[in-house]
Amino acid sequence: MTMDPVRPHPKLERYYVRDSERPAAVNEIFNEGAPYYEWICRVMSFGTGARYRKQALIESGLRPGMRVLDVATGTGLVLRAAMELSGSSGVAVGVDPSAGMLRECRKSCAAPLLQGRGEHLPVASEAFDLVSMGYALRHVSDLRAMFSEYLRVLKPGGRVMLLEITQPHSSWGRRLNRLYLRNVVPVVAGVGTGTNEARRMMSYFWDTIEACVPPEVILSALEDAGFHNPTRAVTGGVLSRYLGEKGR
Ligand SMILES: C[S@@+](CC[C@H](N)C(=O)[O-])C[C@H]1O[C@@H](n2cnc3c(N)ncnc32)[C@H](O)[C@@H]1O
Repeated sequence: MTMDPVRPHPKLERYYVRDSERPAAVNEIFNEGAPYYEWICRVMSFGTGARYRKQALIESGLRPGMRVLDVATGTGLVLRAAMELSGSSGVAVGVDPSAGMLRECRKSCAAPLLQGRGEHLPVASEAFDLVSMGYALRHVSDLRAMFSEYLRVLKPGGRVMLLEITQPHSSWGRRLNRLYLRNVVPVVAGVGTGTNEARRMMSYFWDTIEACVPPEVILSALEDAGFHNPTRAVTGGVLSRYLGEKGR
């Protein structure tokens, strides 16, 4: 029996009209925005983004000697922390579909990098202790299919760790979040880099956050894919960290 895809958000016609056009449209946005991504993340998170990502990996149980696959690695913000924590006895590998992002990543990161999508990972089964994905589940075509793929590449007892921005519960929190991510960040990105590409990438970033399915859908897609008791922890009302474990 084939199951309907679990899409992370409805179609966004401002960026693509048909679902079949989506991967290429998303890829173009990230290819063009890649040179500016690190700078924007640093400014947008007031310099806290790298520390937060590293702490999330530590709390997911990443230790020296482990094998980590960082999907949607982008410029390597999660990957660099994963390399440091897994150490010389471990392995950290990055995967991303965007050639532009991988080019930027290579400038600051010596880890092996593979071009590919979360839905079809170009790696062997049962090869990793941890699969991480930072701020990218909104960009895939089917959450359940991607999580099944994560399950495939994890060793028994391995974990998945997902970082995401979620809308706050309170209406004032939602208004504040919208004001910052919709109005401030794209303008700062555009003016600060002097490019339309950076502004467009951050407008897309917000549009996908606003349209994203609620956390319960992400948790049940993890469960449907076969992860045990997936959990979600929230920091500051907006930063979600999902964890799931593969059975032994
Ligand atoms: C906002 S960046 C996140 C980069 C990094 N993980 C971080 O923590 O900042 C989103 C990344 O998702 C990638 N991406 C887009 N579609 C994807 C897919 N189907 N599978 C995996 N990665 C994808 C993009 O190319 C981009 O590099």
